[in-house]
Amino acid sequence: MCGIVGYVGKRSCTDVLMNALSKLEYRGYDSAGIAVFENGKIRVEKSKGRLADLADKMEKTGRPEGHAGIGHTRWATHGEPSDKNSHPHSGADVTLVHNGIIENYKKLREFLINQGNTFTSETDTEVVAKLISYYYKGDPVEAIIAATKELQGSYALGIVFKDYVDTVFAVRCESPLIVGIGKDESYIASDVPAILNYTKDYYLLEPGEIAVLNPYGAKIYDHHYQCIEKELKTADWDMDAAEKQGYEHFMLKEIHEQPTAIKTTIMPRISDGLPNLEECGITYDKLLRYNKVFVVACGTAMHAGVVGKYVIEKLARVPVTVDIASEFRYRDPLVGEGDLVIIISQSGETADSLAALRLSKDRGADTLAIVNAKGSSIAREADMLIYTHAGPEIAVASTKAYMVQIAVMYLLAFEIALAKKVIDEDEGKRLIKELEAVPDVIQKILEEKPDTQFAASKLINTDSLLYIGRGLDYALSMEGSLKLKEISYIHSESYAAGELKHGTISLISDSMPVIAVVTQPDLALKTVSNIKEVKARGAYVILVCSDNIQVDEEAYDYKLTVPAVDSLLMPMTAVVPLQLIAYYTSVLRGNDVDKPRNLAKSVTVE
Ligand code: F6R
Repeated sequence: MCGIVGYVGKRSCTDVLMNALSKLEYRGYDSAGIAVFENGKIRVEKSKGRLADLADKMEKTGRPEGHAGIGHTRWATHGEPSDKNSHPHSGADVTLVHNGIIENYKKLREFLINQGNTFTSETDTEVVAKLISYYYKGDPVEAIIAATKELQGSYALGIVFKDYVDTVFAVRCESPLIVGIGKDESYIASDVPAILNYTKDYYLLEPGEIAVLNPYGAKIYDHHYQCIEKELKTADWDMDAAEKQGYEHFMLKEIHEQPTAIKTTIMPRISDGLPNLEECGITYDKLLRYNKVFVVACGTAMHAGVVGKYVIEKLARVPVTVDIASEFRYRDPLVGEGDLVIIISQSGETADSLAALRLSKDRGADTLAIVNAKGSSIAREADMLIYTHAGPEIAVASTKAYMVQIAVMYLLAFEIALAKKVIDEDEGKRLIKELEAVPDVIQKILEEKPDTQFAASKLINTDSLLYIGRGLDYALSMEGSLKLKEISYIHSESYAAGELKHGTISLISDSMPVIAVVTQPDLALKTVSNIKEVKARGAYVILVCSDNIQVDEEAYDYKLTVPAVDSLLMPMTAVVPLQLIAYYTSVLRGNDVDKPRNLAKSVTVE
């Protein structure tokens, strides 16, 4: 989604803004722009396309020279990607950049037109610029407070006022924003990696707070215009974590970071060979109270929830419902006291997941967040919190975040099963040992480099394919299929293998490859029968299976094996070849692997 940056200090503002924006490219965008104070006046440069297009444009017009300004990468919501819809947008006294969506912008636009304003773009953002200008009587903070009272929806704003040279203002509601503090300089950013090159110290702006940055530092006010003291936080990510470090793409680097990410996530939650989640606010007493568990999330995070469902139900015998957050929030769910709602989110800012969390809390359910981004809204608002420690995930396609999300779901499943005494301590210890062994198995898979490139080469010219599996293999197929389609742009679906005969098998022909996942020994024979059915109808079959399962050679065309671990844990190892197949298919098709078209890393609007 959109990215915001801002700078005040001694450096070249244009250099800082362009560098900081480049660190936010992973969020997905279709245009970019900056506004810089040059010789006491605000100069705006913006362009449809990539940052490189903006840089090219400025080569012709001359790069703005100054020491304070704001910048933006836009992911179009209101109005197509174009120069005129790109941010920054201006009112009479104000120029600003915006993340989020203003829901009542049409009404405000009409009001402002009646006041004599004319609009140059189709965006909701221009409405905000003109509204703040409308309220501006000489005091920027007062104008921001008055205007934001009228806004409905979500926003983070970086603002400059023409009368306040070399000063940057910021305010947020829902959409995240941080204020970075360096020596004699300050920054705003929608995401920590934007400013890691310059500083690790930052304030997290709370909804309604207003930041005023000038060359002497930053002041923060609440929405009553009272100056407030805030805790300065320090990012525990370093720049290395946000760089490619020799890998061709972030996605490949992040796939290789999975063994470490699992260890960093699970080890602090294990003591005496058993899970220990007390520090996260999770105790046996609490777990015993829940009769029902909901897992609510979007996309890949939701797929981690599906793995969690299979494992919690199988081990702990507690019913689990997995919901897509955008459905859950509007379906009047039967959730309330005595229920546990688990929200899984890498970014911790996904609008629908955040809304589902709030709805669950309002209805009296206990909420548990499994989140990667520290200090994010979902992390702050949930009753209980387990941070995953994947570090920054830059590639839009999630890999290591999914891996640690499922690692946490295993810990949780073991803990619930122990609390309910469905398994005893010996079994708990055995399962933890198996889980602790997984990172080394994944490391081995990565070192041995399964020939996923060959599998990918068989897919690059296809229009459509199916992923099939049963049980946990079906849960995993969902993620394999999403990974492939989002970065290769090839249509694919995941199907429960036993469901094929009920309609979908009619699609099978020699132009419809099938990726079959077989890692569950107790279901293998059943799935293999289904594989033979698609093979008999002409499908090219790529089999991904564990090395303890024998499958007749005539059932498949190409086989990728992964070492067997406990069958419950197989999604952790078997997902690796699926991630690599998606990665190489995207590479071979010449796509932008890390920044697939139309997608955004953090979906902060509905
Ligand atoms: C796909 C992917 C998305 C996210 C989804 C939820 O690779 O990354 O499907 O999983 O947008 O995002 P978070 O986890 O930030 O809530």
